[in-house]
Amino acid sequence: MPVLPTSGRLRWTDVPALLRARLEDALGSPVTDALTPPGGFGHQLAAALTLADGRRVFAKAAPDDDPLTDANVHEAAVLGSLPPGAPAPDLLGIHCAADWTAVVIAHLDGPHPDFSPPSADTEQTWALLDKLTSSPAPASYAAAVSTTPSTTAALHGWDELLSDPPTDLAPAARDRLEQLAELEAAWPAFAHGDRIVHGDLRADNMVRDHHLGVTFVDWAHATTGPACIDAASLAPQLILAGHAPADVARLLRDHPATASSPETTTAFLAALTGHWHRNARQPAPPGAPGLRPYQHRAAAAGLTLLSYRLKGQRAPRF
Ligand SMILES: Nc1ncnc2c1ncn2[C@@H]1O[C@H](COP(=O)(O)OP(=O)(O)OP(=O)(O)O)[C@@H](O)[C@H]1O
Ligand SMILES: [Mg+2]
Repeated sequence: MPVLPTSGRLRWTDVPALLRARLEDALGSPVTDALTPPGGFGHQLAAALTLADGRRVFAKAAPDDDPLTDANVHEAAVLGSLPPGAPAPDLLGIHCAADWTAVVIAHLDGPHPDFSPPSADTEQTWALLDKLTSSPAPASYAAAVSTTPSTTAALHGWDELLSDPPTDLAPAARDRLEQLAELEAAWPAFAHGDRIVHGDLRADNMVRDHHLGVTFVDWAHATTGPACIDAASLAPQLILAGHAPADVARLLRDHPATASSPETTTAFLAALTGHWHRNARQPAPPGAPGLRPYQHRAAAAGLTLLSYRLKGQRAPRF
């Protein structure tokens, strides 16, 4: 059975003593402090560990029968295979003991990026996405992600909402429900590609490191796919951060990762937004109290962007 904390994340002291000792041994110094940063919805340990010699590392850990351990091991493989210069922290090691697994990652020092309009973090992140997706993923990365099926390709939601429309569905969705379901149905055929895809880009999966600048963390969903996925995922986040939807729609239209594949971008955005609209209505999973409210907000932002992209196309009558 997965071990779940009663609220929030597992703590350093929840990790079995054997694994803690294994980590301290490998790091060559005892852990004197463990700080859980804000951000994310997961229940596993995700903490900045301060060592007695003053160094800091970042560790994620969960029991081996918790699905998050597979995700962490996938993340470790990805971190070890990204090309030099990719906006990601270095992998420091993987340690197993007492039927738990811990992944140790270089610590990044700084806050989450600020995506509100005056901040330069938005521009920097778009530039990183351009650089990351402008050429095919290296063979090492493609091999690292090849054994884990892409969850991105399986995104959907409008199909279920179409068959039983909820009464609280926004009119902008209700009026185009059939079209949205058709767009999302087209997505799996577009979902394959040879570019690096982070797969879960939000401000809380990035750190603005004092030395490295904006750096992407939480590569647990990384895969290969078309260049547009991360840019199209980021766009609704910018609306949530206060950008005018028309500005974001324009950015999405013109960014190198999306400009050359408008159909793919729209199909992906439809699938992602459908996923949010459907999942926001599910019962909250244990240990993740903020997830459903976030999905409601993201669903509304994604729908706004889709409305811009579909403007001029007549909503189907039914
Ligand atoms: N290498 C790092 N250095 C410093 N802080 C980090 C690092 N990696 C992640 N963080 C911080 O820890 C938080 C949780 O980490 P991460 O997102 O990897 O965990 P998770 O459990 O997979 O997340 P989620 O809840 O999103 O599934 C991040 O939101 C970020 O603030
Ligand atoms: Mg995260």
